[in-house]
Amino acid sequence: MCGIVGYIGKNQAAPIVLDGLSKLEYRGYDSAGMAIFDGSKINITKSVGRLKVLQELTHDGATMPGNLGIGHTRWATHGAPSDVNSHPHFNEKGTIAVVHNGIIENYLPLKKKLESKGYHFISETDTEVLAHMLDYYYKGDPMGAIVKVLHRVEGSYALGILFSDFPGEMFAVRKDSPLIVGQSGEGCFIASDVPAILKYTRTVTYIDNQEIVRLTPEGLHIYNVDEEELEKESVTIDWDAEAAEKAGYEHFMLKEMYEQPKTVTDTISPRIRKNDIVIEELGMSDEDLLSVRKIHIVACGSAYHAGVTGKYVLEGLARIPVEVDLASEFRYRNPILEDGGMVVVISQSGETADTLAALRESKKRGFKVLGIVNVVGSSIAREADNVMYTWAGPEIAVATTKAYSAQLIALYLLALKLARVRHTVTEREFEGMLEDLGRLPDQIELLLNNKNRIQRFANRYIAAKDVFFIGRGIDYAISMEGSLKLKEISYIHSEAYAAGELKHGTISLIEEGTLVAAVSTQPSLYQKTISNMVEVKSRGAFVLAVTCEGNREIEKAADYVIYIPQTNPFFANSLAIIPLQLFSYYVAVGKGCDVDKPRNLAKSVTVE
Ligand code: F6R
Repeated sequence: MCGIVGYIGKNQAAPIVLDGLSKLEYRGYDSAGMAIFDGSKINITKSVGRLKVLQELTHDGATMPGNLGIGHTRWATHGAPSDVNSHPHFNEKGTIAVVHNGIIENYLPLKKKLESKGYHFISETDTEVLAHMLDYYYKGDPMGAIVKVLHRVEGSYALGILFSDFPGEMFAVRKDSPLIVGQSGEGCFIASDVPAILKYTRTVTYIDNQEIVRLTPEGLHIYNVDEEELEKESVTIDWDAEAAEKAGYEHFMLKEMYEQPKTVTDTISPRIRKNDIVIEELGMSDEDLLSVRKIHIVACGSAYHAGVTGKYVLEGLARIPVEVDLASEFRYRNPILEDGGMVVVISQSGETADTLAALRESKKRGFKVLGIVNVVGSSIAREADNVMYTWAGPEIAVATTKAYSAQLIALYLLALKLARVRHTVTEREFEGMLEDLGRLPDQIELLLNNKNRIQRFANRYIAAKDVFFIGRGIDYAISMEGSLKLKEISYIHSEAYAAGELKHGTISLIEEGTLVAAVSTQPSLYQKTISNMVEVKSRGAFVLAVTCEGNREIEKAADYVIYIPQTNPFFANSLAIIPLQLFSYYVAVGKGCDVDKPRNLAKSVTVE
């Protein structure tokens, strides 16, 4: 995920581009850059770091005069954040500049071809291929070159393009990455999202796949790939600027919850090939995988909870012993790491101090470390021996939702891969589980669409003092995450308990009306959990159950039931967590809490 912006018109372009980028930082913030045409040539300034760095470098745009420009805020995918990998990218003569949001999947063969034609690459990005390809096909006709490039690239893109031979025109095109264009009396605009241009115009046109836009100071024209001009309706945006940044959602947390179906798809699909799981980033052959005797998962907070689920899934599917540690404990307990041990650290930010220290400790002892990380180029991503990225995109809300969901998927894929290599599942079971994985995005969507019922239920618990989450096995791991979500954003005390352990002390806290959320997604444990529900209910608890469709028996012991669709029990966390996230969110909203920035918390914890 990245953000692009462009302007052509009567005014200075650089300040407008910078302002637009500032509204798109939620789409990525590891580097930023812009290309401005100064009347005779294209000037480019770009830098790793937040947009602030670019603003300072260009004195808020003052050092880059010109009425035509494009800009980019980056969320690294190919190539770590660095000056050279930042956008815009350009051809060797500096006469074509490109900003790109998306991924060019076939960039390696294209790069090879261009290199054989004498082109030199200076970055590690997929985007640079586009700049050189445009140069290769450009014979004085920008549209012709763009169309040729479109026919050859695979993947997703929203592009803003400048040709110095055409100082009165800007070009844009998209496939599978968002792009809007807008127009005002002062000029024309392109952007990844509405907030970037809302200050200048409220009249926007949504560009569809494979459409090309030619913008001039006076107006814009939209074409199909046959270069036939299209008539498209524009719409008037009536959101305020802040709502627009959140795509109309009230909070980033809600927006990010709604991004989970996409996050799950994006994390699964690059690793499924012809009914098999291919995780090249593991850097391990099947033989290496066979030699793994124990896995140590180390993480903090929600990432640790994903790791606890990972333990059940890895042990259950691949029959490998797994130890899960809180990173802050791991490093000081002199852990026993033996030959055949594999260390997996999990982190959204890739900057969590304790997790990073655990990684370093493991490497010091000679162990290879696999990082499951969301932020490309982060410290953990750089220092781990191998990195499996969770493709969740930038997560802005402090309480994680979509990154956690992506971590679960990464662990399922790892478990299934190991299980197949070790023959601990049959081919039929493996294929069935791939199908179940493929169904998760739609099932998550279904659960999200059921939000009104959960909101109504949540409204009844705004004044709750204590809430307990109970479950067994994977359901205990789900309870841990459900409990953390509730307490961190609503400030209601909550605890997660292994359902069978409650009666060894904690049950004394149950009073008349205490809410107990019982998670029961594992058919082999249904009866056991029902018994625990009855235990708390008979002491006055109000029991909310989260269970799978078909488990009607639970209604005998529960006061309120939320059903999740059927899936393989190993993957149930991905579904059961959705109503629990929604519940926490609506309780916090109902209490008037600052949902996206809960008190005392920070998005990345870089201190011990
Ligand atoms: C809770 C939450 C935190 C993080 C934890 C680890 O919603 O977000 O518990 O999971 O601070 O952070 P990362 O994954 O960045 O290492």
